[in-house]
Amino acid sequence: MVIFALKNSALEAIERAQNLAELETSYKAYLGKKGELTLILRSLANLNEAERKVQGKEANDLRNLLEKRFAERKKEIQREEIVIQEKLAIREHVDVTAPGKRLPKGHTHPLTLAQTKAEEIFQTMGFTVAQGPEIETEWYNFDALNIPANHPARDMWDTFWLKPKNAGHLLRTHTSPVQIRYMEKHNPPLRIIAPGRIFRYEATDASHEFNFYQLEGLMVGKEVSVANFKAIIEEFYRQFFGKPVAIRLRPSYFPFTEPSFEVDMRWNKGAWLEMMGAGIVHPNVFRAVGYIPAEWRGFAFGMGLDRLAMMKYQIPDIRLLYSGDLRFLQQF
Ligand code: DAH
Repeated sequence: MVIFALKNSALEAIERAQNLAELETSYKAYLGKKGELTLILRSLANLNEAERKVQGKEANDLRNLLEKRFAERKKEIQREEIVIQEKLAIREHVDVTAPGKRLPKGHTHPLTLAQTKAEEIFQTMGFTVAQGPEIETEWYNFDALNIPANHPARDMWDTFWLKPKNAGHLLRTHTSPVQIRYMEKHNPPLRIIAPGRIFRYEATDASHEFNFYQLEGLMVGKEVSVANFKAIIEEFYRQFFGKPVAIRLRPSYFPFTEPSFEVDMRWNKGAWLEMMGAGIVHPNVFRAVGYIPAEWRGFAFGMGLDRLAMMKYQIPDIRLLYSGDLRFLQQF
């Protein structure tokens, strides 16, 4: 009975030991010179032969068991301590003198650079920056711009219609609807530009994307003319490219301007490049926003911002602008 109780308390003490010192203390308490089990083993000599045989076997079995468990637990603790030492020494070691890790910093995308530069230039010439939504209604994107339903001119803009189509919502195909939105809320005279993202239902190649950026312009006043338009655009290019740039106007067609023209610019004394559509605001556009057409005149234009950025930074493929490729982006 005494031995049975001793066995339980000794085994428990072995499990409880968290380090070698505690284990050693427990070992002494049971198997040391004055340990509980040692004393029992010594007292065996005082018993008669029959009792000695029974108790002697029990006590010796227990001693063997405890020696074995102590040895095992010692190995376990040693292994645990090595792991703890390694963690402290290597993985969780903090060198407070080491320099901090530098996080990579983002920077401005070339399209944004071009847009910001263009905004700054137009602002110095008295233009306000206006904005409109990317999801538009049929009215703002087409009808108010003198492009009625079933008019063949709608085919000029391959359109992403939002479902259901009869609800009349679409992804704006140009920034021209911002002209309408702005004029609805402001009286002339006015000068605005409207840079923004637009969408075309088109296949992509080196010069086409299904989404890109335009910069719209509108100036309305009493005596606004094509001569004013030409002067402002020439000044814009001069500042944007940092040198005088020759431009030419070619007759063209847009439903919201009359007359309409394409603006080409001469690149490095070589080819003429098409840069924007423009014209004198059509009377029906003024009517759509409640202006009296006889009282006001205006010019409008819409230029491709991607084109502008590609020329300024000599980017050969429009798709690079949307690739998110750091090898490309880090050059700016
Ligand atoms: N919105 C036209 C397009 O996307 C470009 C344009 C042409 C805008 C003439 C204008 C303009 O404001 O007057 O093709």
